[in-house]
Amino acid sequence: MKSVIALLVVLTLTISLSAQEDKIPAGHDAKGIYEYSDFEKPEACYSCHVDIYMQWKQAMMSQAYTHHWDEIEYFDLAVPHAEKDPDMKPVVDGCNGCHAPLAFLAGDLTPPRPAEGSRANESVSCDLCHTIVGYEGETPFNYSYRVDPGKTKYGTKPGQESPHHDTQQMDLYGQTEYCANCHNEKSPFGVWVKSTQIEWQDGPYGENNVPCMDCHMPKAPGRNAKMAKKGMVAQHLFHGAHAPGKVLGTIELRMNPKTREVQWDEVVELEVQLFNGKAGHKVPTGSVEDRIMWLHVTATDAKGNEYHLPVQEKGFEGEEYTIASDELAYQDMGLPKGIDDFEGVRREDVPIGDRIFRMPYFDPQGRMTIMQWNTKSLGVDYRIGPRETKTETYIWRMPEDIPVGKVTFKAQLNYRKLVKPVAEFLDVPEEESEIMHVNSTTTWIEVYE
Ligand code: HEC
Ligand code: HEC
Ligand code: HEC
Ligand code: HEC
Ligand code: HEC
Repeated sequence: MKSVIALLVVLTLTISLSAQEDKIPAGHDAKGIYEYSDFEKPEACYSCHVDIYMQWKQAMMSQAYTHHWDEIEYFDLAVPHAEKDPDMKPVVDGCNGCHAPLAFLAGDLTPPRPAEGSRANESVSCDLCHTIVGYEGETPFNYSYRVDPGKTKYGTKPGQESPHHDTQQMDLYGQTEYCANCHNEKSPFGVWVKSTQIEWQDGPYGENNVPCMDCHMPKAPGRNAKMAKKGMVAQHLFHGAHAPGKVLGTIELRMNPKTREVQWDEVVELEVQLFNGKAGHKVPTGSVEDRIMWLHVTATDAKGNEYHLPVQEKGFEGEEYTIASDELAYQDMGLPKGIDDFEGVRREDVPIGDRIFRMPYFDPQGRMTIMQWNTKSLGVDYRIGPRETKTETYIWRMPEDIPVGKVTFKAQLNYRKLVKPVAEFLDVPEEESEIMHVNSTTTWIEVYE
């Protein structure tokens, strides 16, 4: 009997808690429901959570509003776009729902520039993340979180005791839906322009329930606060495209010729395999409109002459967007920049004929765009899925004067966070478009007379 009563009490408590949570507005309805002062500053957490604070400070989470490319895209493209097209204003305010949640919840829109030092600069802060109590809808997206700032900080561990705050265990903090609030995004045209958690869900890591935290907040022995007992602690690393070591080796590469010995007038055929053995989602994921990953294959003959090998076409629909060309694109930047009939900039500026692993985003006029909020449709999805292997073929007719001896082939997989011509056009600091090395491999043939 006692246990039945206890169960009833627990049930009633749970129901009333979730009923309260459901009353907290989410998504766009949460705009302006709080004040900045409802949230504690990260520096308050630092006094006890020293390592976690320092990790967060180095991660992009603490710079989501202040980082140069975020500031440039927001203030030079998004905000002017909304000034010219008022329908875009709610969408552009919505950037802050994920990048500067405190400003969004405080209704401080458009927030001051980073240089002005407002609390928008806290970006995705400790107190925002640790006062999330639920989310709206089935699949979370577009800042669908419900936030209840105050004395209680939520996490995955039961029975934590702190002199500064109350704690409460909540399963959500170990689930991918938590991250999905900001890592799934729909454009105003109803297109999924970020779908990292959906990609995860549909793949092998979702099937085996290996959540985002296992790879982006790995656990290590230590103390989670200065006065805490030792245990396994979730490291707040959030490494992604801004951590070269995270990108390095994400895709494994192998390459083989069809035959080792080739007569000088024969055609050489090579195959390259690309295996996504490290990421729980597609690569690239997230800001797919900005990112570019491409495979560059070269041959070097016995005398040291180098040749560039273009990829063999497969013939699928939309393939032209996956092979580097000198086409122009991104004409819709002309709108916020106030340039009439803007002809665009080069689509990729990587060696022509190289294979690109990407999914193009299209504006309402069907032109490729990096303005994900202006995306009306998506092109072919030629990214590498979790544990997927893609193969590429190279067919090479050697020059007639090829010297006999060894020919070495090199396949190099490169990554850029932002397509270079866009970075140059918008004066984004070079590090955002520098070449990051993903992987490389070699093989060889013997040419005989
Ligand atoms: C005066 C020291 C102190 C300050 C300041 C402090 N904490 Fe804590 N916090 C602790 C201690 C101690 C624990 C529990 C450690 C244990 O029991 O092992 C803890 C635990 C936590 C947990 C774990 C909860 C769980 O159930 O998994 C979270 C989350 C947390 N704190 C967030 C914060 C945030 C966010 C701030 C700043 C707004 C903050 N803390 C400020 C001392 C502090
Ligand atoms: C993007 C959201 C996010 C941000 C930002 C964030 N955390 Fe966390 N934090 C989490 C999640 C999720 C967990 C639980 C991870 C798990 O258990 O797998 C967690 C766990 C913790 C824990 C318990 C760690 C453990 O394993 O014992 C503490 C303490 C904590 N966070 C404090 C902080 C502090 C302090 C900051 C700011 C310096 C911060 N967090 C920033 C999401 C966040
Ligand atoms: C099995 C490990 C693993 C899991 C699970 C995983 N990731 Fe990743 N993630 C990676 C690796 C490796 C990279 C680096 C490669 C890259 O940038 O695509 C990465 C990159 C990222 C990036 C940066 C992408 C870019 O290039 O801009 C984001 C954002 C991200 N992950 C979010 C998530 C979220 C959210 C989840 C859960 C829904 C998740 N990850 C699950 C391993 C994982
Ligand atoms: C409140 C919104 C929010 C939540 C919740 C959130 N993120 Fe993020 N995350 C962001 C934003 C915004 C960025 C982009 C930062 C920037 O501007 O470069 C980001 C960036 C990242 C990156 C990429 C960093 C890089 O180097 O490029 C990773 C990895 C990541 N988040 C993982 C996670 C994981 C794992 C979770 C869940 C535990 C999570 N995020 C929860 C908003 C959020
Ligand atoms: C639903 C949440 C969400 C919304 C809304 C959102 N973003 Fe983001 N944004 C993210 C996340 C998460 C990332 C990181 C993805 C990754 O690392 O690949 C990101 C990445 C970016 C980046 C690239 C950062 C870098 O350094 O590579 C820029 C720039 C950016 N967002 C600008 C904007 C602008 C401008 C808007 C509004 C028009 C906006 N975002 C709306 C979540 C969001």
